[in-house]
Amino acid sequence: MKQLHKQSSYRRDEEMQISQTPAYSPKSLKHSRSIQRSISYLLREQRLLFILVGILIASTFFVIQPSLSRLSSDSSSSVDPRHGISAGIRDSIVSYNNRGDAGRKYGDLVGRSPYINGVGRVPVGIGRKRKRVVVTGGAGFVGSHLVDKLIARGDDVIVIDNFFTGRKDNVVHLLGNPRFELIRHDVVEPILLEVDQIYHLACPASPVHYKYNPVKTIKTNVMGTLNMLGLAKRIGARFLLTSTSEVYGDPLEHPQKETYWGHVNPIGERSCYDEGKRTAETLTMDYHRGAGVEVRIARIFNTYGPRMCLDDGRVVSNFVSQAIRKQPMTVYGDGKQTRSFQYVSDLVDGLVALMEGDHVGPFNLGNPGEFTMLELAEVVKETIDPGATIEFRPNTADDPHKRKPDISKAKEVLNWEPKISLREGLPQMVSDFQNRILNEDEGKGNK
Ligand SMILES: NC(=O)c1ccc[n+]([C@@H]2O[C@H](COP(=O)([O-])OP(=O)(O)OC[C@H]3O[C@@H](n4cnc5c(N)ncnc54)[C@H](O)[C@@H]3O)[C@@H](O)[C@H]2O)c1
Repeated sequence: MKQLHKQSSYRRDEEMQISQTPAYSPKSLKHSRSIQRSISYLLREQRLLFILVGILIASTFFVIQPSLSRLSSDSSSSVDPRHGISAGIRDSIVSYNNRGDAGRKYGDLVGRSPYINGVGRVPVGIGRKRKRVVVTGGAGFVGSHLVDKLIARGDDVIVIDNFFTGRKDNVVHLLGNPRFELIRHDVVEPILLEVDQIYHLACPASPVHYKYNPVKTIKTNVMGTLNMLGLAKRIGARFLLTSTSEVYGDPLEHPQKETYWGHVNPIGERSCYDEGKRTAETLTMDYHRGAGVEVRIARIFNTYGPRMCLDDGRVVSNFVSQAIRKQPMTVYGDGKQTRSFQYVSDLVDGLVALMEGDHVGPFNLGNPGEFTMLELAEVVKETIDPGATIEFRPNTADDPHKRKPDISKAKEVLNWEPKISLREGLPQMVSDFQNRILNEDEGKGNK
């Protein structure tokens, strides 16, 4: 009975619902009404006009884009071999430094670089392919200038440094840049990263620093270079070694060509550096021949510029700091030994040209202008203080008598040669040193 009653009440409910719902209308009618509603929705508030304008903008972009890429590939045939990228592409690179202060801090001379004078924003996919680059020793003197250049041309840069001689101050202006990463790491330990290029600079470069712990210097040169070459092999990256003119030792050939094998003391105080770099070159060539790694070797001659360590015992930084502090400039030996001095932006241009070019090397990168130590002291006096004095001290062991690069190979093959003379470059370095020495005197400890 109860069930019968329930069923009859359900039926009553259903009947009531049916009587309340509107009369049935066929689907086709509903459709045509919704189309009418959509059309009137579109016609209201100029929506149709906005849609048409959107379509017009999108199609203009897709029509223009192929012709733009054709243009850029045409201009890539006119590659500027010194910089390794086409003038057209180079001009179209979005320069972060147009807005950031990295370009400004890079110094006036470097500021003239075409990379920093980039034009407006370029649509994604039209510019040069962005490279991922590792710079070991990138917080050091040369490394930090190289990183500035790579960031300015639009690359993603990872710096690996153990801060033995490098300083965070050298890259502090890049810390907020999303394309820049800084890793505290010792290259003696392996590391795994995904990059396209490896600039391997990590190694103390001044005698004071590399003699401080000679065994560690050898480890850095041998194990550090092995680790970085191993990484290059594993990920298929191109590897550039910053070797040194010290591989020529106290040369018997003058000026030194890349074909000269050198005159090196294998058991002296400088051997940890000289022989360390020679072994690093050997490893680099063996990875190239044996494992097909794409490698480049630069033999760097004396380089100077802003961000050098203040008291690293290298002759230019010594003379400049001493003259600024009103101390006598120390000349070792009779001061007649010669050196050539290259401004850092010239070196950085050479390193990039080498990395981007097709030739393994080795290439001498240096300024062939030759100065005796006494002549250098004169230029420093002219630039800083005409009253500066000189103090003579006995010479250090294995100090080469002459050093002058023959750069004809780099000139011919890389179309590279230094542009900045000592008299142009020195004032840039002096103003950086003056600021830092002032900070030091004020107790800010900016060494
Ligand atoms: N500046 C020159 O005149 C000159 C001349 C010839 C060769 N080079 C070569 O160029 C490179 C750079 O020289 P620089 O003048 O900029 O010297 P630098 O001392 O200013 O820079 C070397 C950098 O490497 C880092 N480093 C050292 N050992 C490391 C390790 N084990 N792991 C990680 N990081 C480490 C240091 O902290 C520093 O930041 C060096 O390989 C040097 O041999 C320089």
